[in-house]
This record gives sequence, structure tokens and C-alpha cells, in this order.
Amino acid sequence: MKSIKVAATHPYQAWIGTGLLDRVGEMTAALRSPCPVALVMDETVAELYGELVASSFAKAGFRPHMYRFPPGEGSKSFELLSHLLEFLAQKGLGRGDLVAALGGGVTGDLAGFAASVYQRGTAYIQIPTTLLAAVDSSVGGKTAVNLPSGKNLAGTFWQPEAVFCDCATFATLPRQELASGAAECVKYGMLGVSGLLETLTRDGLAASWMDIVPPCVAYKAEIVRVDERENGLRRMLNLGHTLGHGVEKLSGFTVRHGEGVAVGMAILTRAAERMGFCEAGTFRFLQRALDALGLPSTSPFSAEALADASLGDKKRQGDHITLILPRNVGSCGLYPISITELLPIIRLGMEEGS
Ligand SMILES: NC(=O)c1ccc[n+]([C@@H]2O[C@H](COP(=O)([O-])OP(=O)(O)OC[C@H]3O[C@@H](n4cnc5c(N)ncnc54)[C@H](O)[C@@H]3O)[C@@H](O)[C@H]2O)c1
Ligand SMILES: [Zn+2]
Repeated sequence: MKSIKVAATHPYQAWIGTGLLDRVGEMTAALRSPCPVALVMDETVAELYGELVASSFAKAGFRPHMYRFPPGEGSKSFELLSHLLEFLAQKGLGRGDLVAALGGGVTGDLAGFAASVYQRGTAYIQIPTTLLAAVDSSVGGKTAVNLPSGKNLAGTFWQPEAVFCDCATFATLPRQELASGAAECVKYGMLGVSGLLETLTRDGLAASWMDIVPPCVAYKAEIVRVDERENGLRRMLNLGHTLGHGVEKLSGFTVRHGEGVAVGMAILTRAAERMGFCEAGTFRFLQRALDALGLPSTSPFSAEALADASLGDKKRQGDHITLILPRNVGSCGLYPISITELLPIIRLGMEEGS
């Protein structure tokens, strides 16, 4: 088992191991006295791991209350948030009690948001069961729900008490979900985790996630330590996300988050290379990793549609938007542009040929 400290204003440890789920109760008991716990999970995860985690809590003296919701991005809504908050109240949870998010990024974002506003702030823990949640959403304290106008438009910063990541849970993930999480690992490789793209290109989805998750979490933890509230450096973690959110939105959220991010990174890397911002050969290197993981590198939508959809992104500041562009594999930079420049940049990144 590995442990990484996340030195946010409210510091905590991220524990990463295999076969950790049935120890979650005991490990939580080492942090706080037993209390009622709202165990929040979608129905798929509840079927697979709900009982195991609930009984682990019960064995350690906690009193688990299971809250299940339909899987999918559609559940990251105000309607479900308010339903969950009412559940917490109905179960009589107090401020000193605990919320546990067991599942992927949807569960973590939703349960984290609920915890952050329930009785003006209740403690929660993250138990990620997707690769995406393990390397990204479970660490750093960003919570959110979607609005009809776009993804993650309402949310809070609320750090968990701990993160318990059991890499054995990835064995039950559908291939596409695993690939979606791997896209965030590729992102860390582009940003600065050395050797990651090489490993992912070599091993594809058969990679040893127990070796890959810790350096990704450590990288994110360091960024969160420096810029918890995303005023500067943390924006780097949005590499590929502005266009990625555009692709997700245009697809009616049938394209997964990581798949959108993969497309976003590919388009911007190719454009950056053609603009002379990025070292020649970077796009090919990235594309090989995406191919090995079965991730897309081209947009199913036109440049015009993508530019339109991406400009609704919350990273937009008036008539400007800041793109994150790779300089090479392992280094990226912020690149502010006016919104009228976005379409030609996307076109450049979508043109075939070298
Ligand atoms: N807060 C942040 O910092 C942050 C960062 C990145 C992404 N996100 C958010 O995370 C969400 C995407 O996360 P996700 O990809 O984990 O989505 P998800 O939570 O919807 O999980 C994907 C699917 O996998 C299923 N699943 C989960 N664990 C499983 C397992 N072990 N075995 C089998 N099936 C399992 C779920 O039921 C779901 O159908 C997006 O909403 C995105 O905006 C947030
Ligand atoms: Zn992401």
C-alpha cells in the first residue's frame, strides 16, 4: 500500500492499494470515532462493492446508510443533489457524521458537493472505484453538479478527510471506462510525469495501475498544494478539457469524459506543433499512447460545432480563453487567446497530414 499526502489547507492522505475495500472501515476508524455514515454510490457500484464496504464500516463500529442512484453523468444534477441532501437529513446525520463517496467521478463530485453544503459542511471520504476517479476526481476537493448550460457549472471546493483507492476495483470496469481513466494518466504524462506515456504505449490497458496511480496522484497533490483554488498552476490540469467538454456536450454525454479529453489533447497538440509552440514529433508520440489505449484522437464533430460548444466552458473569461498547450511531452504552457482565434486553432489541429 502507498500513501500520498495531499497538503491542502485541510491536509489528508490518499491511500492506494489492492484489496483495500474491506479495510475502509478500520482505516476510517483510525481517523475519527465511529459515527453514522452515508454511503453514496451508483447502482452498478452498489451491486459490486456496496455490501463489502458497508460491512467493513459496520465491523469498525460505524452505522452505514446506503444511498443508491442511477449511474451516469445525468445523475450529477441539482435534482439528485437535493434528493441526497434530504436523505442525509432523513437519516438524521449531523455535522460530526460522515459521507462516503464510493464510485467514480460522478459519485465523488455529487457526494462531495452534498457533504460541502450539508449543515454548512460535513466531513466526507473518497473511495474511488474508477481509474479516472483514482487519478483525478477523488483528490483535490473539487465538487460539482452540471447545469443545463454546461458541465460542472455549480460546485464547491471541499477537501475529503481521506482517499482510499483500491486498484483491484478496476478489474470490473468496462474497457471503455478504464480507457477513459487512462486518458487522464496520459494527461499527467503530457504535463510532467516522466516515463508515463512510454509505459502506457507499451502496456496499454494491461498496465499495472498500482504503479501508475501513485505518481499521478502525487503529481496532482503537488499542484493542489501550490494552487488549491485554481488561480494559476492548477489550470494546467485542464489540458484537453475545454475541447473535451465540448465533445462530451455535443455527443449528449455519450462520449466519455476521458475520451473527450483525449480528443481535446490530440487536437491542441497537433495545432500547437503546427503553430511552432510545440516540439515536432510530440503529436505522434501522444497519438501512439492514445492508440495503444484504444482512445480517440479525432473529433466526430466539425471544428465549428466544437468551437461553439467549447466556448460555453467555464474557463472562458469574457472574450478571452486560456488554452493549455503542450511544448513537448512533459511540459505544457498557458496560452491566452481571444475567442475568435479558437476556431482557426481547432481547424489547424483537425487537418490531416503532417
Ligand atoms: N472533481 C474533479 O476534480 C474531477 C476531475 C475529473 C473528472 N471529474 C468528473 O468525473 C466524472 C467522470 O468520472 P468517471 O469516469 O469515474 O464516471 P462515473 O462515476 O460515471 O463512472 C463510470 C461508470 O463506471 C461504473 N463503475 C464505477 N466503478 C466501477 C467498477 N469498479 N466496476 C464496474 N463499473 C464501475 C459506474 O457505475 C459508471 O457507469 C465526470 O463527471 C467529470 O466531470 C471530476
Ligand atoms: Zn478530467
